[in-house]
Amino acid sequence: MVNHVFSHLTEAAFKIPLHQSSVTAWQGHIPFAFWCLDQWRPKNFVELGTHLGDSYFAFCQAAKENATGTQCYAVDSWQGDAHTGPYDSTIYEHVQQHNQQHYQDFSHLLRMNFDSALEKFADRSIDLLHIDGLHTYEAVAHDFNTWLPKMSERGIILCHDSNVYEKDFGVWQLMREIETSYPHFHFYHSFGLSIFFVGENPPETARWLQEISAHDGDQWRMIFSHLGGCVVQRAEAFFQQMHFQQELQKRDSINQNLATAPTNPA
Ligand SMILES: C[S@@+](CC[C@H](N)C(=O)[O-])C[C@H]1O[C@@H](n2cnc3c(N)ncnc32)[C@H](O)[C@@H]1O
Repeated sequence: MVNHVFSHLTEAAFKIPLHQSSVTAWQGHIPFAFWCLDQWRPKNFVELGTHLGDSYFAFCQAAKENATGTQCYAVDSWQGDAHTGPYDSTIYEHVQQHNQQHYQDFSHLLRMNFDSALEKFADRSIDLLHIDGLHTYEAVAHDFNTWLPKMSERGIILCHDSNVYEKDFGVWQLMREIETSYPHFHFYHSFGLSIFFVGENPPETARWLQEISAHDGDQWRMIFSHLGGCVVQRAEAFFQQMHFQQELQKRDSINQNLATAPTNPA
C-alpha cells in the first residue's frame, strides 16, 4: 500500500533548478515551490521581494515546465532593505537578463515599492502570493494586511523567514497572530516558510495540506527539508568549485609572472 503522504508527491518536486545564486537562504524551498505551483496552478502569482531571483525563478520555472498558464509578477525596488543591505543595479540587470532569456512571455518585473504596486492588481485577483520583503514585524504585518484584499477565493499566501527569532526579525510573531484566523502549514527548514490558506475555496491539495495529521505533516516537512537540502548542497558545491578554480587561476598567473620576471643582476 502506498503511504498517504507519498501518494501526494509528484515529479515536479524533483526537478533541477535552472537558477541558483550563491545566496542559498531561500533555496531549500525550491522543491516545494515546484510542487505547489504545479498543484495549485495559480492564474496570477505575485512575489514581494525578489532580490537575485532564487525564489521567483523557481515559481517561473514550474509555471513554464508544467504549462500552468500562470502570469507571474516580481515586485521589488531592487535597492535592498535594512536586512539585505543596499545593493547596486547589477542585481536587477542579472534578474532582468534571466527573465528575458527564459520567461518573458508570462513574467513581469515591477521595479517599485510594494505599496505602489498595489494599484496594479484588482481586488480578489491573486491566487498565490509570496511575501519575502523586510522581515520586521511591522513591515511583514503591513505587507500581509495591505495585500490580503487582493487574494482570490483560491488565495494562498506564503511567508518566508517565519522560523527566525534573532535580531528584529518578527515574521514568527505575525504568524502566531494570524494562525488563529486561517488554516496554515509551517515548514521549519531554510529559515521557515509558512503557508496561509486565506481563500474560501482552496485547490484540492491545499485542502489536503490544511487537514493533514500531525504525523503526516511531520513526514511532509521531512521530505521537503531533505529535498531542499539537496538543492542547497548543489549550489554550495558549484560555488565552492568556482572559488577553487579562481584560486587556481590566481596561483597559475602568479607562477607565470615569476617565471617571466627578469632575474636580478648579481
Ligand atoms: C530577503 S530579500 C528577497 C529574497 C528572495 N525572495 C530570494 O529568493 O532570495 C528582500 C527584498 O525585498 C526588497 N524590499 C523590501 N521591502 C521592500 C518594499 N517595501 N518595496 C520594494 N521592495 C522591497 C528588497 O529590495 C530585497 O531585494
